Amino acid sequence: MLNFVDLDDSFKTPEGFNLETLGNLPIYKHHYHQPMDADPKTLYWTEYQPFRPGDGTISFARRLYLEHPEVARHVMEYLEFLFPSMSFDIQRVNLLKTHGSIRSHVDESQRMCCVNIGIANSSGAITRTSSTKDFNLFDSVAETHQCVDGHAYLLDTSSVHEVKATNDQPRYLFTYGFGRSFNDVLNCYRFKDKIKD
Ligand SMILES: [Fe+2]
Repeated sequence: MLNFVDLDDSFKTPEGFNLETLGNLPIYKHHYHQPMDADPKTLYWTEYQPFRPGDGTISFARRLYLEHPEVARHVMEYLEFLFPSMSFDIQRVNLLKTHGSIRSHVDESQRMCCVNIGIANSSGAITRTSSTKDFNLFDSVAETHQCVDGHAYLLDTSSVHEVKATNDQPRYLFTYGFGRSFNDVLNCYRFKDKIKD
């Protein structure tokens, strides 16, 4: 079953968007399944704490538009190009950072699938995805992918997935999460006729 699609390879990071300025954002530590600020008013990293010592971290800078409205609009317009029949909320354009490996998990907060767009060192990890919710089955069914900067991907995050770092630098991707299923969103994809199973 399909759970990962390379949607497009033409994303251009807007001029003037400098990841180094984001390096100074405050970091709020977050634990899986704990409450999170539903209505952030400032931009900060929500850093998921490792499940076990030695694991890496995954962080989200939510509501990118608060400090980078043109960047968030640019990402939203790109998403509208890929999914012409869908409407997008600029408040939900986020930046994602992974640093190190992220153990197999399913996403929380009703994030059923997402579009990730590689912007810096996105190739610095292998992403393993699946169509199973059974952690015991994961290793036998997982598929392996490597992201590339400038590409956009649709991932099924309601099924088990993991990230295995292949270098020690942080990876940055824009991300937009959906409360709709992977297949639902994929059905709205502009070039869905070109997808090979
Ligand atoms: Fe995830």
